[in-house]
Amino acid sequence: MTKSAKLTIGEKVIDLPIHSPTLGPDVVDIRKLYAEADVFTYDPGFTSTAACESTITYIDGDKGELFYRGYPIEQLADRSHYLEVCYLLLYGELPNAAQQADFEYRITRHTMLHEQIHYFFRGFRRDSHPMATMVGVVGAMSAFYHDSLDINDPWQREVAAIRMIAKLPTIAAMAYKYSIGQPFNYPQNHLDYAGNFLHMCFAVPAEPYTVNPVLAKAMDRIMMLHADHEQNASTSTVRLAGSSGANPFACIAAGIACLWGPAHGGANRACLEMLREIGTVDRIPEYIRRAKDKDDPFRLMGFGHRVYKNFDPRAKVMKESADEVLGLLGIENNPTLQVAKELERIALEDDYFVAKKLYPNVDFYSGIILDAMGFPTSMFTPIFAISRTVGWISQWKEMIGDPTQKIGRPRQLYKGETRRDYVDLRHR
Ligand code: SDX
Repeated sequence: MTKSAKLTIGEKVIDLPIHSPTLGPDVVDIRKLYAEADVFTYDPGFTSTAACESTITYIDGDKGELFYRGYPIEQLADRSHYLEVCYLLLYGELPNAAQQADFEYRITRHTMLHEQIHYFFRGFRRDSHPMATMVGVVGAMSAFYHDSLDINDPWQREVAAIRMIAKLPTIAAMAYKYSIGQPFNYPQNHLDYAGNFLHMCFAVPAEPYTVNPVLAKAMDRIMMLHADHEQNASTSTVRLAGSSGANPFACIAAGIACLWGPAHGGANRACLEMLREIGTVDRIPEYIRRAKDKDDPFRLMGFGHRVYKNFDPRAKVMKESADEVLGLLGIENNPTLQVAKELERIALEDDYFVAKKLYPNVDFYSGIILDAMGFPTSMFTPIFAISRTVGWISQWKEMIGDPTQKIGRPRQLYKGETRRDYVDLRHR
């Protein structure tokens, strides 16, 4: 028996169907509301709005749960690896040995960029932010890979997906090398995905470079933790861009642009810079006070989340990884890590943060690990973009493949001028 909600507006009573999910809250289907009642709903930040139906990722903000295709993130972070998670997000099931070997073969052999794209980098200033370069180069990929632009051809959608998962690390590494005036490194097919990225970033022609397996494993885990996160701002951007029929490269470039913001993917960089500014444990109370001051725009970066009102499960894994990596590098007494741990301890006991259910999110510890690996803060969000590309593409493929999908076109609550006539300049 179909559940429904009754909405009374004036004399009218509108029956709105209620759909039940496999997990999470029911949804009230309001698609016919405007036609039947001549009213819109109003939800500017989409705090109570389900924009789509999806089977990819589930988050329970109260329990602090995150599932990729039903598998808990803690189990995947502990037992899987990034390319296996990519397969799971793209195709819905964990691969068997043959499927995994084929998928990794296809990704590995798409890691090189068209040689002409190297010239794109030359057009940027050396001090360009790597995210600016990535937005530009990823968008420009549609000028080169003409055989994977037709979104109505499932095979071309598949090729575009493989190309972007494979090439984003190459593009990010080239953006980094260009920003420090060092030569580009070509991908090395004998290295795994994370190790290849480290090699492209840190190898120089003047001496051999050996990938540290501990750092490669930590990088692979960071990539798994960032791979997808249901309908976050950048994923919603990719879906909205894709709903117009834009080519896949343009859609992913739009997602990269949105991720750049400090409230979203830029928070990892902002968080490390905040921890460095705090500098010592004794200065933490001053920053806690500022974070609580309504007249101070300062917020604790790496804290809070639209969905998680409990611990972000990714932050827990990231914290363990930070201890492991810095311990193995012999810098467990890193002052920034000490400030982060003490800030977390104090904030979690503070009534303001407890009342507002503010916990560390995925960005709170990730910057400490990336900094320990040798990355500048400007590379933190590009690394997030590499990781999230598979999530963006999986969500984009799901939307494009949905026969009921329509172009996204929200309405508004108009508060501007009513109709008025033009006044010639001489009368103003
Ligand atoms: C990511 O959506 C996703 O899934 C994103 C992401 C993903 O994987 O895609 O998880 C990645 O973007 C993680 C979030 C990274 N951003 C930051 O760490 C930036 C700092 N955090 C805040 O800007 C904020 O918490 C947001 C943007 C993350 C969430 O904002 P909301 O849901 O709109 O919540 P809000 O701003 O309405 O805050 C609720 C209250 C407010 O107080 P009141 O107005 O109710 O009095 O909590 C306060 C806020 O002032 N608050 C904070 C705070 N975050 C919220 N106060 C101090 N420090 C903070 N960090």
